[in-house]
Amino acid sequence: MIEIVVLGSGNVATHLFKAFSASEGIRIKQVYNHSEASLDFFENKVEITTDFSEIAEADVYILALKDDVIPQTAEKLKDRSGLVVHTSGSVALDALSGCSRRGVFYPLQTFSKDNELNYSEIPFCLEANSEEDLQLLKKIADRISGKAYDISSEQRKKLHLSAVFVCNFVNHLYAVGEQICQKSEIPFDILKPLIKETASKVQHASPAGVQTGPAIRNDQSTINTHLDLLESSENRKIYELLTSAIQTFHGKKL
Ligand SMILES: NC(=O)c1ccc[n+]([C@@H]2O[C@H](COP(=O)([O-])OP(=O)(O)OC[C@H]3O[C@@H](n4cnc5c(N)ncnc54)[C@H](OP(=O)(O)O)[C@@H]3O)[C@@H](O)[C@H]2O)c1
Repeated sequence: MIEIVVLGSGNVATHLFKAFSASEGIRIKQVYNHSEASLDFFENKVEITTDFSEIAEADVYILALKDDVIPQTAEKLKDRSGLVVHTSGSVALDALSGCSRRGVFYPLQTFSKDNELNYSEIPFCLEANSEEDLQLLKKIADRISGKAYDISSEQRKKLHLSAVFVCNFVNHLYAVGEQICQKSEIPFDILKPLIKETASKVQHASPAGVQTGPAIRNDQSTINTHLDLLESSENRKIYELLTSAIQTFHGKKL
């Protein structure tokens, strides 16, 4: 049985807790958070604490914390014999350098507390400062998902950057689309099959190969109409920048 203490009670901590609770061979021994506010979910399910000095001994400490506080929190665990890992896409393994056993357990997915997820499909990007601990992390990842990857800190930085483009930026564009619909009393639901098909197409084709729309066709009159319709100067800038980026990427004349 692998015993784990989870530090943090936010999105990732909650989902990891749910995933581990449903898996065999792993026991969440305790959940720590610096404040009581978001520990409600864990109450009566597992031992909880807000007192750092009460953190239990464990095989693995998972720091599912705000990126900025990972180094200082790891520093406070430097005398523990267990493996200390964080779950961040952008924090280097070196941020845990005070800990003799350190690693990264980065789940490449977008987590919101109340969203249901199929944990078996989540890729886990793993890194550790010893082969033995890398194998331990693989064993843990295997209990919830069959998808574990060896990814270095340098690669993870690039992967996280890529994830910001394909997830965070795309989601903001959904929000802009929703706002435009709302202003014209059009239900956003009408766009959902299009959103689904766009995401589905790239499962089997290169995104560059399936680009459509006025930018790649260089339909200048449509582009001008769209720019005139946009009320927000911020959204006009986004439209112009993305149109130009698509045309440059595909070698079109501006
Ligand atoms: N969400 C995602 O989609 C996602 C995906 C992959 C990886 N990650 C990574 O996973 C980690 C956690 O992300 P998350 O989305 O779960 O964040 P989150 O929901 O905002 O939770 C952050 C946790 O850090 C705690 N925290 C905040 N300020 C703190 C401080 N000054 N001292 C100690 N603890 C503090 C929070 O406690 P309070 O709420 O009580 O302040 C909370 O428990 C991050 O490293 C993130 O990069 C996130």
